[in-house]
Amino acid sequence: MEERKGFGTNFGFLMAAVGSAVGLGNIWGFPNKMGASGGFTFLVIYLVLAALCGFIVMLGELALGRKTGKGAVGAYKVLSKKFKWLGWLGILSAFLILGFYCALGGYCIKYMVLNVGNVFGAGFGNNGLASGDVFGNLLTNQLESVIYGLIFVLLTMIIVMGGIGGGIEKFCSIGMPCLFFMLVIIIIRACTLPDAVNGLKYMFVPGWAVENGVIDKAPNLLTVLSTAGGQMFFSLSLGMGAMVTYGSYLEKKQNLEKNALIIVICDTIIALMAGLAVMPARFALDPNGPIGGPKLLFITMQNVFNSMGTVGYIFGIIFYLLVVLAAISSSISLLEVIVAHFCDKAREKGKGDKRKVYSIIAAVGSGLLCVLVCLDGLGSNGIAPFDILGIEANGWSDCWLDFFDCISEGVLMPLGALLMCICIGWEIGPKVVDEECCLEGNSFKSKGLFNICVKVITPLIMVFILLGQVDGFFGLGLFQ
Ligand code: PHE
Repeated sequence: MEERKGFGTNFGFLMAAVGSAVGLGNIWGFPNKMGASGGFTFLVIYLVLAALCGFIVMLGELALGRKTGKGAVGAYKVLSKKFKWLGWLGILSAFLILGFYCALGGYCIKYMVLNVGNVFGAGFGNNGLASGDVFGNLLTNQLESVIYGLIFVLLTMIIVMGGIGGGIEKFCSIGMPCLFFMLVIIIIRACTLPDAVNGLKYMFVPGWAVENGVIDKAPNLLTVLSTAGGQMFFSLSLGMGAMVTYGSYLEKKQNLEKNALIIVICDTIIALMAGLAVMPARFALDPNGPIGGPKLLFITMQNVFNSMGTVGYIFGIIFYLLVVLAAISSSISLLEVIVAHFCDKAREKGKGDKRKVYSIIAAVGSGLLCVLVCLDGLGSNGIAPFDILGIEANGWSDCWLDFFDCISEGVLMPLGALLMCICIGWEIGPKVVDEECCLEGNSFKSKGLFNICVKVITPLIMVFILLGQVDGFFGLGLFQ
């Protein structure tokens, strides 16, 4: 049987895993949620949840992957009788997330190009239009959106085709340090703008957002807890097999516990740094602009760059390139969840791994979903789920992006993480993780914590997060 090639170095593995975790969620989700949900208090809650839940699920997933040396589907099939189908949930989530992630990644590429146009005063720049109109035009220009979306899919596919060491590891080992460096440049610029301090106050000072009218009223504690939990596990790429898959390519001598901890810490630091880059700029230069979601990225931030003159466009190019890197390093981990499974199967049958063929097939599948999201243009073009079903628009039916997000981030991922804990805690037993962590002379320092958490604490938190996600995405009002 052909050898299953993995990461060449632990650094490469870490960059790929951190790259998967750091994505659009860190940039447009975390900073805004932190500000709107209690500032510093939110951060403390987030960190507690990240320790009791994020770290535990992360370690569990990495261990399952490495123990079996298989992608998500194969790993559960080998280890569990009751949950042998669980990996398929991950494959489904991966397709759905890729559908909207690639569309958004395509928009980011478009904005990089737009700012190049702005530097040279070319026709493909703003062309005298306000940011809201530029974005509106992109959403309704279906052909342009589809082209950019497919360019993003193509880039993702090319990297995954290169394999783990030759594609994903290489890309992330260069891309992630570059992302970090560019983020520092943007932070320095943003934090030295006049009035930048308001952005910092919004993010960190509890109650500031309400006192200053940025939001109407403070959310209650239950809502804050569920917002933090939902953000935490999406941001860490948990509950859908990405970390099982990456773990399966890690060498036995590497320390799983340390790696899991580093991934959680790096993801949180980059989310905070993204806040330092975005919020001060928004409060200094576009204080009334949208503060979260795609509009923050494509309307507010572009307004910020427009108001700085030519040098602003250069910052714009750097900023959107940074976001493209963050998005691609996540989308390759999503595509790899799908590709790894089919390669494993082909390899078992002695057919080689056929990575190139499966990368193309998986990219075509997710490309089709991406085309749908692009054609829909965030619900601007009359083909959103609510248009088709003839119902009133709400959270999940607003647009195809929200629909895919609701099913994946809202239901499948928290469910996947919950079932993984039950599977490890109650079916196969946490000993499997212990053994995997202690290979080749490594020790498992948090074993006591892990065992209690995976059996009781983490599943309880996951049930709560699942309810919170369903509540938030489907507007049930449970936590009001
Ligand atoms: N963690 C990514 C983000 O924060 C999203 C993601 C989820 C990526 C699941 C891969 C797998 O944007």
